[in-house]
Amino acid sequence: MKTLLYPCCGTEDLYYFLYRFMDDVDRFIFADLNFRRYFYTDAVNKVSEIGKVIKTERKGRFYLSREKGYLEVEPEYFYITFVYKGKEKEILFRRGCAQFALLELEENSLDYFVHRGDSSEGGSRIYFLSNLNPDYKPISRLYDKLLYRLKPDGYIISDGSNIRFKNLIRFYKSIYYKSREEVLDLFPVEMELPDSRLISVDILNRRYNHTIVWKVKKYDQKGGGGNRTRV
Ligand SMILES: C[S@@+](CC[C@H](N)C(=O)[O-])C[C@H]1O[C@@H](n2cnc3c(N)ncnc32)[C@H](O)[C@@H]1O
Repeated sequence: MKTLLYPCCGTEDLYYFLYRFMDDVDRFIFADLNFRRYFYTDAVNKVSEIGKVIKTERKGRFYLSREKGYLEVEPEYFYITFVYKGKEKEILFRRGCAQFALLELEENSLDYFVHRGDSSEGGSRIYFLSNLNPDYKPISRLYDKLLYRLKPDGYIISDGSNIRFKNLIRFYKSIYYKSREEVLDLFPVEMELPDSRLISVDILNRRYNHTIVWKVKKYDQKGGGGNRTRV
């Protein structure tokens, strides 16, 4: 079973990934704070156009409060089960804080991780491609946590938004004004990141910058498979 996770996906860009990866992926997880009831209805209609919807289910109730200066969020899960080319597939819209959509995944369970079109001003300010260390442990060192959940032959898809690794930032800056063909001429580009190496394999449609598909080669994480990165 193949899984794609797109945190902070908004309500439009996710459909590009749904259509583009429909043949390959069995479970899509789209995570955002701002899904509304009419959005779910619209999504069911769109999925009905390409497959046969057999079930929808809502679990939990989204709740957000900002009491005593703390942000408290209860997530909501909306599932669409459908059949596409004879195969049963599932979409989960997870309304809540996106970091927890990642934390809910098992070790070595994720095939594609997508994050793009985001920013630090007006966007989520979440840095999955970084090992920033905020005080609140569950959302610290997100790249370590991502690696822990990515399969050994998994992929990271990014347009360079909300990253903090200097070599990656430099690379995305260097390709900003290049054409798709000029960027492809540079392939395979290799990037050394903590406990891993990224190798460029494809370019998808452009968002803020070229959207690069990186194959991830994970090095053995120290400490018996990365217990330190599970939570
Ligand atoms: C700049 S938009 C990008 C949307 C999408 N990636 C795109 O390219 O169109 C940032 C998105 O992050 C979502 N967001 C902000 N903070 C979030 C959080 N803590 N958890 C989940 N989503 C969040 C917003 O609702 C918004 O849809």
